[in-house]
Amino acid sequence: MKPVKREILIANVYDVASARQAGGQLAEQAGLNITQKHCVMTSISELAANIFNHAGRGNITMSIVSRPDGNKGIEVVALDRGPGIVDTNLAMQDGYSTTGSLGGGLPGVNRLMSEMELSSTPGKGTVVRALKWVDELPLLLQSHLNERSNQTAQSGNE
Ligand SMILES: Nc1ncnc2c1ncn2[C@@H]1O[C@H](COP(=O)(O)OP(=O)(O)OP(=O)(O)O)[C@@H](O)[C@H]1O
Ligand SMILES: [Mg+2]
Repeated sequence: MKPVKREILIANVYDVASARQAGGQLAEQAGLNITQKHCVMTSISELAANIFNHAGRGNITMSIVSRPDGNKGIEVVALDRGPGIVDTNLAMQDGYSTTGSLGGGLPGVNRLMSEMELSSTPGKGTVVRALKWVDELPLLLQSHLNERSNQTAQSGNE
C-alpha cells in the first residue's frame, strides 16, 4: 500500500525539494487535479524554505485526509522550534519580511491552499497547518455565506 503520510526533516536546502516532491506524490494520490497539486507543491516549498531560512531546521508532515462528507485532501503541517514570530498578523501581510526578501511566502500559501492557520510563540517556535481539498466549492460557498452574514450583522448594528 502507498503511504498516506510523509514526514520530511528540513535541515538543508535539498530537503525543501524532497518535501515538495513528496507533497506532489501525496496530492496526486489524494485525487487533487494538476492545478491543485501545484498549489500544494508551491506551498510546501514556501513553508519548508521558511523553516530553513528563519528557523534553521524543522519538519514538514503531509497526510491524505478525508472528511465525513467524503471530500478528500492533503494536510500540510510545518513545525519548527526556531525563534518564532512576534506579530503573526504582520507576517501574513504581502511584502512583510524580516530578511529583506519578497515577503510573499505566507500570504501566498494562504491564497493557494483551501485553509491555513499560523501559530507561533516567540522563543519557542512556529506551526503552520494548511489544507487543500479536492472539492473546494463547498468551502468557497461557506466562506461567501459567512461574509454575507457578517455584512448583514454589521449593517444591522449601524
Ligand atoms: N518558520 C518561521 N520561523 C520564524 N519566523 C518566520 C517563519 N516563517 C516566517 N517567518 C517570519 O515571517 C516573515 C514573513 O514570511 P514570508 O514567508 O511571508 O516572507 P519571507 O520568508 O521573508 O520572504 P519570501 O518567502 O517571500 O522569500 C519572515 O520574514 C519571518 O520574519
Ligand atoms: Mg518565506
